[in-house]
Amino acid sequence: MDFLTGMLDWKEYQVHSGDNLRKIDGNNITLSAYLGVLGLTGLTAYFGLNRIGEPKEGETLLVSGAAGAVGSIVGQIGKIKGLRVIGIAGSDEKVTFLKEQLGFDSAINYNTTDDMAAAIKRHAPDGIDIYFDNVGSYTLDAAMENINRFGRVINCGAISLYNETKQPTGPRLETTLVKKKCKDARLYSSRF
Ligand SMILES: NC(=O)c1ccc[n+]([C@@H]2O[C@H](COP(=O)([O-])OP(=O)(O)OC[C@H]3O[C@@H](n4cnc5c(N)ncnc54)[C@H](OP(=O)(O)O)[C@@H]3O)[C@@H](O)[C@H]2O)c1
Repeated sequence: MDFLTGMLDWKEYQVHSGDNLRKIDGNNITLSAYLGVLGLTGLTAYFGLNRIGEPKEGETLLVSGAAGAVGSIVGQIGKIKGLRVIGIAGSDEKVTFLKEQLGFDSAINYNTTDDMAAAIKRHAPDGIDIYFDNVGSYTLDAAMENINRFGRVINCGAISLYNETKQPTGPRLETTLVKKKCKDARLYSSRF
């Protein structure tokens, strides 16, 4: 029997043309992995970090939504790539999980942090080379205050804004992008 994955209807049985379906290895790999680390969220993490982030050993990676499906994989790939990895998450339990279970170098609980830009600076005194953004808003602003020259920002998601009914305003980033020579062409791209 073959196993396939793709953007299918949530049904037990269906007839499909076969377009845009991918054959997966259901014999040697647990099928549920294709819903996580080998599925949409894992591939988002892998291609976002590697293609847009272009990580180089010794660089510093900051990731928000760090304990989530995408962020947790980003951080682990970052460690495999030899990066110093800092996560941002919403509880002390998650901070401990990131450091002790996933091997992150440090982590910040945004719910107990008044000044995110200062907290990032404390955790990354030499600045951020790559910011993998899952949340947007003030966390992105704070990360941009700490971005290094030639920094890369992966604009993956903006979960903190999804329920906003009005378009929020914030700091204008144009000057930072020019001064820091960031990859602004890719900054707003979420298509890997
Ligand atoms: N571009 C793409 O192709 C692509 C693909 C997949 C996902 N995404 C995006 O990537 C992001 C993460 O997806 P995921 O699947 O990893 O999500 P997830 O597993 O559901 O994790 C999301 C985490 O975000 C945090 N969060 C929720 N509300 C927040 C807020 N107001 N401020 C800060 N953090 C908040 C929560 O963790 P805490 O408890 O730590 O707050 C939550 O557990 C989402 O924005 C999603 O839309 C993009």
